[in-house]
Amino acid sequence: MNASMKHPEENVRPSRCGRVLPVIFLLVSLAGCRMAVRVERDEALQASGEQLAEGKTLYELHCETCHDLYEPADFTYNEWHVAMRKYGPRTEASHQDLHAILRYLIRASENGDPLETAP
Ligand code: HEC
Repeated sequence: MNASMKHPEENVRPSRCGRVLPVIFLLVSLAGCRMAVRVERDEALQASGEQLAEGKTLYELHCETCHDLYEPADFTYNEWHVAMRKYGPRTEASHQDLHAILRYLIRASENGDPLETAP
């Protein structure tokens, strides 16, 4: 009845969650950082012909095992990031290889595929 007489500290029970949750959150975000491949637009647009050729070769090597290759122009910058997050880990490609693939896909999607041979 007379709740105001209660000592305020009584309501504040020390919780284990306060200590455990931040640690879990930290581990999850560290794992996320390690996994997610990200390529800035500028990096893709400034990539050398050699880097793009490498990315294309790796794309053909790693991404054609389950389905035909998708055209770079069929997906946007953001969509390629999403697809990479989804399917990159399903390949045996290293993080570095996935980065090179994504760099090629974004360059080809945004600014035309410099490696596409005219029909
Ligand atoms: C282990 C099998 C597998 C591998 C390897 C794979 N994919 Fe896929 N991918 C799928 C499946 C399943 C779908 C769904 C529909 C389909 O078959 O096209 C898909 C669909 C896609 C799509 C269409 C959009 C979407 O989300 O459905 C894109 C883009 C794509 N993959 C990109 C890639 C890229 C880039 C790579 C290489 C890094 C890759 N995939 C490697 C299985 C795979």
